[in-house]
Amino acid sequence: MAAAGRLSFSNITALAPMVRVGTLPMRLLALDYGADVVYCEELIDIKMAKCQRVVNDVLETVDFVAPDERVMFRTCEREKGRVVFQMGTADPERALVVARLVEPDVAAIDVNMGCPKEYSTKGGMGAALLSDPDKIEAILRKLVAGVSIPITCKIRILPSLDETVSLVQRIEQTGVAAVAVHGRLKDERPRHPLHLDYIQAAAGAVSIPVIANGGSLDLVKTNKDIEDFRRTSGASSVMLARAAMWNASVFRAGGPLPLETVMEDYLKHAIRYNNHAFNTKYCLCQMLRDKVESPLGRRVQAAQTSAEISEALGLQEFYQQTQDKLQARRDAAHSGGAPERLVMDGDVTTMVVRFERREYPPHITPKMFLLEWSRKEKLQQPLYETVQRSQDRSFQSIVTVEGKRYRSTLWEKSKKFAEQAAAVVFLRVRGVPEGRIGEEDSGLVCKRKREGQPDRGAGEEDSNKRRVFEAQRETRSGKSQGVSV
Ligand SMILES: Cc1cc2nc3c(=O)[nH]c(=O)nc-3n(C[C@H](O)[C@H](O)[C@H](O)COP(=O)(O)O)c2cc1C
Repeated sequence: MAAAGRLSFSNITALAPMVRVGTLPMRLLALDYGADVVYCEELIDIKMAKCQRVVNDVLETVDFVAPDERVMFRTCEREKGRVVFQMGTADPERALVVARLVEPDVAAIDVNMGCPKEYSTKGGMGAALLSDPDKIEAILRKLVAGVSIPITCKIRILPSLDETVSLVQRIEQTGVAAVAVHGRLKDERPRHPLHLDYIQAAAGAVSIPVIANGGSLDLVKTNKDIEDFRRTSGASSVMLARAAMWNASVFRAGGPLPLETVMEDYLKHAIRYNNHAFNTKYCLCQMLRDKVESPLGRRVQAAQTSAEISEALGLQEFYQQTQDKLQARRDAAHSGGAPERLVMDGDVTTMVVRFERREYPPHITPKMFLLEWSRKEKLQQPLYETVQRSQDRSFQSIVTVEGKRYRSTLWEKSKKFAEQAAAVVFLRVRGVPEGRIGEEDSGLVCKRKREGQPDRGAGEEDSNKRRVFEAQRETRSGKSQGVSV
């Protein structure tokens, strides 16, 4: 499915993007039951661009956190190769900023061009893009050129077959990996019949995978129907929204599970990943559908907190055990483990990070990785400012990258180590490789150096050292600034 690590959209079954529904617990549930690919809910570029990437060591997630502390997007290792980040955008530049922010943590990026709801169409996003093919092209080309993971988009059909085919062909020319086609017009409602012939025409007109969508109400009720939908639509792949929202076990080749089981499985993920109670309750109510007035439905509706929802479904013991585990992790983190919670200190992004030399191969340092990354991104060299405190003569550094400042909260025995720790903070916040032993080779720093062999590597070290001396300037206050690697 994912040749050479790159997500393929051929012959896959996907969980469709769904606002409020497509958060982490639902995506994991869909994967559990057999979905190949899972889309997150549409997230708007302007909001995402303001988010900080935070490694949450207690939940073992990566969180994208808004300035008001709301977690806009939470993801985890389990879905890393399968999750598609869907973006709402009408601006190529901003789309690229967001794409680069999430790129290290997701498998692909999708642009929403089909949502007719006001929150999406305002500002020219979602289905509004369908009447601006030049904008569609500009956004997709920018993303395809600017990130290394696959780019896709999801459209609705246009009023005629010819227009739809032309649009899909134009989209293919941008270099996207796939296009999802929801076989309804912009103004049609989900209850309206699907235009299967439009999906067939689109699928026949391009060589990239077309993902058929829109069959939940009348075509796809069971797992077997997915294959029929794929075949009759002529598309390579299928994407399900409502059928999955109502009962995600539709992805199970072994047949559907009772709703109560699905709700419990969902809730376990929600508890494990500390999902917001309102969101959990919303999703459970969508699953209940006409059973919201049943005794179980009433209990779920009455619940206000995650603990109460757990009780409503008889999962109070699981809830308590999970809370205990998470609390133990929090305690371990606070008592000298390796917490990596990001905290803003004024305008400085801080993390509790100690630079451990033994974690890196000889000749390799996080500062090298940061410098190489900055060069690759065509940014100014990172700037280090170090202070020494008088009581124990230890050091702390701030590194400035792209105008933003990062430092570890820990003090180090040497200036060199303090700078390395600051570099680590930046690299971890941004999800950029730092050169640690065991880390996947990013190719950022030359291989010979990683293996600790001298020759050209040693020469680079020398020239790096020269740069240190050229760049270091002692300030009157005892602060020093410098660039070294
Ligand atoms: C609750 C809900 C939320 C949705 N949110 C999104 C969204 O964020 N992005 C998007 O492209 N489509 C969204 N859609 C549309 C679905 O992805 C899909 O195109 C539509 O429901 C038709 O597919 P289906 O017949 O399988 O339900 C949403 C649909 C539902 C029911």
